[in-house]
Amino acid sequence: MSKFPSEKPVLVTCGLPYANGKAHVGHLRTYVPADIFTRSLKKTGQEVTFVCGSDTHGTPIVFNAEELKTTPTEIIKVYHKHFDETFKKMGVMFDAFGTTDDPTNHNRTTEIVSKLIENGYVYPKTIEVAYCPSCDRSLPDRYVKGTCPHCKKEARGDECDQGCGKHLEPGELEHPTCTTCNGPAEYKEQEHFFFKLSQFKDFLLEYLEGLGGTLNARNYALGWVKQELTDWCITRSLEWGIKFPGHEDLVVYVWVDAPIGYIAFTEEWAEANNESWEKFWKDDGSIIHFIGGDIIYHHCIFWPAMLKGAGYNQPDAVVASGMVKIEDRTFSKSRGYVVWVDEDYLDHGFHQDLLRYYLASYTSHTKELNFSWKVFQDKVNTELVGVFGNFLYRTLLFTHKNFGEIPEGEVKQDILDEINTTIENAKGAMENYEFKKYADTVMALASYGNTYFQSNEPWKLIKENKEACGEIVKNCAQITKALCLLFEPILPEKMEEAWKQIGMETDVHETNYMEATELVKSGITLEKPSILFEKIEDEKTEEMEAISAARVKEAIAKENGTEEVEEVKEIEEMKDLITFDDFSKMDIRIGTIVSAEAIKKSKKLLKLQVDLGEEETRQIVAGLKESHEPEQLIGKQVAVLTNLAPAKLCGVESNGMVLAGVDAADNAILLQPEKETNPGTCIH
Ligand code: MSP
Ligand code: ZN
Repeated sequence: MSKFPSEKPVLVTCGLPYANGKAHVGHLRTYVPADIFTRSLKKTGQEVTFVCGSDTHGTPIVFNAEELKTTPTEIIKVYHKHFDETFKKMGVMFDAFGTTDDPTNHNRTTEIVSKLIENGYVYPKTIEVAYCPSCDRSLPDRYVKGTCPHCKKEARGDECDQGCGKHLEPGELEHPTCTTCNGPAEYKEQEHFFFKLSQFKDFLLEYLEGLGGTLNARNYALGWVKQELTDWCITRSLEWGIKFPGHEDLVVYVWVDAPIGYIAFTEEWAEANNESWEKFWKDDGSIIHFIGGDIIYHHCIFWPAMLKGAGYNQPDAVVASGMVKIEDRTFSKSRGYVVWVDEDYLDHGFHQDLLRYYLASYTSHTKELNFSWKVFQDKVNTELVGVFGNFLYRTLLFTHKNFGEIPEGEVKQDILDEINTTIENAKGAMENYEFKKYADTVMALASYGNTYFQSNEPWKLIKENKEACGEIVKNCAQITKALCLLFEPILPEKMEEAWKQIGMETDVHETNYMEATELVKSGITLEKPSILFEKIEDEKTEEMEAISAARVKEAIAKENGTEEVEEVKEIEEMKDLITFDDFSKMDIRIGTIVSAEAIKKSKKLLKLQVDLGEEETRQIVAGLKESHEPEQLIGKQVAVLTNLAPAKLCGVESNGMVLAGVDAADNAILLQPEKETNPGTCIH
């Protein structure tokens, strides 16, 4: 029995983008799968509403406004418009896209917080909050940085963003520093308001056991609830945000009013469409949240507890994606590991549907997704062009040339069976949020179509038996019709075109999966088809890779001054393909490190003296400072590239290169011989 269509109306939401920066490929992993899911549900006949909006509060926005000498209102206006446009360009079609600064959300937040107060779930408490004596203000969230009390990595006020990822409460951060003036902060007493999260432990344990969506969300949240639940500080002393009822000097913490936006946007949709928002939030509709794995805590713990405490329905499912990486590196705007949706993708003429396909079919939804231009090119060329595009184009062109219309002929039962099985399997995959499986299942039908066309050799048959040939062609048209409907959720714009190419006059977006086996009509004129998917050339991929690489270099240069750019260039150049002859040019030998000292001007470099045998000691500069203590290195045997042209790094001469790997945390791992050997030993 399939879950959809169900009697209950379904509400799908997406994690709200912060209106504080541009859309990148990481964001899309929330929005594209949610859009695919929504489109697919519609195709089962399910009633579904899809809402989202910009997250406009919180300190990062105030912070940015201060830096750019403008107001938060201006900033959110710009980015709200940007996200709204970008989503449309990516085919992500919300039924409502509001902002958390809309009056609807102010009202709904005030109502919910007041209800929580009324129901006894909120209490005042005097706590220590970070305060900067030289800026003379308190430092909520992003205004303060310091050391995470859990993992000791550098963290910001409300989140250990570079370390363990934990949510941090005001006052928890060790060694607080003001992010505005970089001066030491103090802790100062202030009255704030707390939500009694600890009282919701039993509720959450039971609720989470039954939570639908992906297992990562449920299991992480269960683990956290079982560990401990401390009460949650829900106010901040800030101007920007939604006022905490009865306290003009306090606003609610952004993670209070942001998810309430889901309700507010449903209200906005209901208002505009003469519909009801209560059917989801008060009555018995279903609520499905799509988010990234970084915000599970907020959606599976804070949010359901708030809803419960204020008398609202809780989400039925939380679908949490794995995080997006860029060329195998952790996503990082400051390090340049980012792919912007507009300037790095759409502006280069790539079609929205190609990226949608990549995001859906790269790997299972809860796993990390690596964005790589090479893999992107490969998937487009082999799957979209080589399999699906090939089937569409060759069958439609053949039909057009030889018949000019869809010919008469019987659609075979085994073809209809294949289509039906594909629909069942694809729907099953979608219900379980297995987007890759969905894409693969549908692609397998395109392969089946190719094999069917190929093995029946219609180009021979046309000369011998036009009628028999017509039947083959008609069966291909039936497969095409099914493929259009099945691929529409992933490739909406391309399938609109393909739908027209097979002479359909209805709206492919509004057509149910069930129609896939309704027989295509004979006699419909077929125009000459155009090619829907074109190969991405190697030069294009290289161009895109070069843009990414330049961004990384730029970011590094910004952070460390220009000298180290040279190092990166060297490393990048080394990655290019070489021939065996090239390889044999390298003279790699075992050397023993005899001395090591830090180069003061550089964050990364050490100056080494390396014994290479035959009384030769070389000075080599190596990027080991962040991973090794100089003393540890003395006496170690390492692999050295000895015939590298001399170079100056940070003003120090280097005559060779010590070979090392780099792990995911950016630590250098030295390459060493299996056992102690003579310095100078050659490596081939
Ligand atoms: N504003 C919050 C969400 C509030 S929901 C009540 C937020 N905003 S965000 O702009 O940082 O992210 C928007 C969505 O994109 C979230 O679902 C988030 O999980 C997702 N992602 C942002 N960067 C991501 C990656 N690098 N990888 C995968 N998903 C990521 O979080
Ligand atoms: Zn931490």
